[in-house]
Amino acid sequence: MTEKILVVDDSKLMTRMIEDMLKQSGYEVMSANDGPTALKLASEWVPNLILLDVMMPDMDGFEVCRRLREMERVATVPIIMVTAKSSIADKINGFEVGADDYITKPFELPELRLRVSALLKRSQRLIAGPAAAPKPARIITVFSLRGGSGCTSLAVNLAAGLAKLWGIHVPLLDLALPFGVCDSMLNLQPRYRLDDVVNKPIVELGADVITGYLTAHESGIQLLGGFSDATLIDRFSENLVTYVLEQLRSRFRYIVIDTAHDFTPPTIAALDGADTIVIPVTPDINAARLTYNALHIFDSLGYQEEPFLTLNWTFSQQGISRIQLEKFLKQPFNLVMPYAAGVWSQAINTGVPVIEGDPESPLVAMLEDMVWRLSDPIMQKSKPDNPTPTWQRVSQRIRSSHSAERPKAD
Ligand SMILES: Nc1ncnc2c1ncn2[C@@H]1O[C@H](COP(=O)(O)OP(=O)(O)OP(=O)(O)O)[C@@H](O)[C@H]1O
Ligand SMILES: [Mg+2]
Repeated sequence: MTEKILVVDDSKLMTRMIEDMLKQSGYEVMSANDGPTALKLASEWVPNLILLDVMMPDMDGFEVCRRLREMERVATVPIIMVTAKSSIADKINGFEVGADDYITKPFELPELRLRVSALLKRSQRLIAGPAAAPKPARIITVFSLRGGSGCTSLAVNLAAGLAKLWGIHVPLLDLALPFGVCDSMLNLQPRYRLDDVVNKPIVELGADVITGYLTAHESGIQLLGGFSDATLIDRFSENLVTYVLEQLRSRFRYIVIDTAHDFTPPTIAALDGADTIVIPVTPDINAARLTYNALHIFDSLGYQEEPFLTLNWTFSQQGISRIQLEKFLKQPFNLVMPYAAGVWSQAINTGVPVIEGDPESPLVAMLEDMVWRLSDPIMQKSKPDNPTPTWQRVSQRIRSSHSAERPKAD
């Protein structure tokens, strides 16, 4: 069903601009240039979301919002207030009369589009109620706006690590469009790929079929290979990604996703569905700026969970210091991955994940501990019936770090 959006602004130019952008994103749009018309349209057409300008002659946006909230059919329709004012008092006023979100002019159209889509999703979740409550699988999405930061390397190692830690199968979805390389990183030639997902009519694409499209790797990874035919990418919509995740969620405990370095609809779906977003950050100015922007967009999308920030030294020297980066990002790193000359590129070339290497090596230990930290808190709390060697090593390290912290009795 196409979602309907009502745009209310006294400037015809503004309504036109927003209308065009929303129509391009696939929404059905109507607009009103004053309060009374907006109220009439809202009650007759009943939109799924309303974008409401504050500064309008005769009846301002606050008053329109207050009246909308009194109208039975539109009382729960999400409202985003759009205004040139940015004072806290105005925001409070907006929320008091029932607005759900607030965007200040001038704004970038993509930001508005993201907010609209996030708010629509949030309200659908609320309407869907407990049936849409969290599903079993924990989804870990590895993402960075900067290419070459280590996303694919981390995604492959996290998936292999989770499989080894818990002794289970872990799907790894290669959504790094247009062409993913998870398959070569694992020395695999998948029989099925995303090509098959988009070629199958959605009514035939159940959990069994999608699970059948996964290719097993000896580590326990179940790979959904990326596209081989880039002309099919347009058919890979946000909804299709969300659907695939929902199907797999009911079958597995963890899903790991490698993503493209962008905010296209498939990436947004992978981010939206994530329980944790892992962001590798290389110590350079471009990575810092792009990560800062990504964090800002996450805020706009209403993501509550802090991402797992990993400072990844993909080069050996002349990097920006951790302290400077943390100050700039206004967020501490959860982990610092040291530069490991040759190890990561050798893993790529041999198709053997780094975490499969010598368990005594500090790098493998660091990756195993990272996997533990990203695991489901409920699983962390109890000892598995058959603990894997990885689980035993991680527990041993946790025990020894606790005893090192404990003050010695003299
Ligand atoms: N800690 C590290 N030390 C040294 N080299 C690393 C480290 N992490 C990743 N690399 C190397 O950095 C390069 C980029 O890694 P990777 O392909 O995983 O990143 P990406 O973000 O997926 O890049 P792409 O833009 O190609 O998708 C690879 O050559 C990898 O071997
Ligand atoms: Mg990659």
